[in-house]
Amino acid sequence: MRARFRAMTATPLLVLENVDKHFGDLHVLHDINLSVQRGEVVVVIGPSGSGKSTLCRAINRLETIDSGTIRIDGEPLPAEGRGLARLRSDIGMVFQAFNLFSHRTVLDNVTLGPTKVLRRPKAEARARGMELLERVRIAEQANKYPAQLSGGQQQRVAIARALAMNPKVIMFDEPTSALDPEMVQEVLDVMTDLAQEGMTMVVVTHEMGFARRAANRVVFMADGQIVEENSPEVFFTTPESDRARDFLSKILTH
Ligand SMILES: Nc1ncnc2c1ncn2[C@@H]1O[C@H](COP(=O)(O)OP(=O)(O)O)[C@@H](O)[C@H]1O
Ligand SMILES: [Mg+2]
Repeated sequence: MRARFRAMTATPLLVLENVDKHFGDLHVLHDINLSVQRGEVVVVIGPSGSGKSTLCRAINRLETIDSGTIRIDGEPLPAEGRGLARLRSDIGMVFQAFNLFSHRTVLDNVTLGPTKVLRRPKAEARARGMELLERVRIAEQANKYPAQLSGGQQQRVAIARALAMNPKVIMFDEPTSALDPEMVQEVLDVMTDLAQEGMTMVVVTHEMGFARRAANRVVFMADGQIVEENSPEVFFTTPESDRARDFLSKILTH
């Protein structure tokens, strides 16, 4: 039973229609159709090179697409300018490599976007930054520098930094893949909290425990295509396609 409230309004928050992208001869996104509802948590899973990161980057327009449409909250992605800057703040990104500013304190890392991009007053941004650091359970590290933190702590700062921009959706691209094993759970716990609070999330991960606990839907990608979409229960127990069965047998037995 999931107690979490999910508002299924008529317009999904994120809609991709017939999205295609090539890198030269490589067809990296092949007719992608995907909708994400408000409050929904979608886990994207699939072999290395299947286009998962490109999909995340296209949604944030860090990559252009060749054809098709991507809409956020009913609006097509702007190509450039102020509209694009606003869109980027609507979509939070958390990457495998934490990409924190190394010469800034933890709190500065979280307040920089709100003060410089959203033009929030410094005191307000710092107060909210501290709240967010509490939320990711790291407030006591606020005045340290990233290098003084463990990988798990740095990734939680990256999550707080994404939240500070009040995004409509957060994309996570393999957020725990670069972590030592003992730090994976603390990051997944924070992500599970966010999911339960109703944050809309697209999460590229092979962490099946997280997918089972937090995801509404699993999307399986292979060779740039969405091969299968199902609830975590159905996907992990009775995958429909040979590709998914083959992939799962590899990650389950390693
Ligand atoms: N900037 C790029 N230029 C050329 N090929 C790329 C580029 N980025 C990714 N690719 C290729 O596109 C394919 C999909 O990559 P990616 O989206 O990173 O897959 P995944 O995240 O599922 O591992 C891979 O074959 C990769 O080598
Ligand atoms: Mg990737």
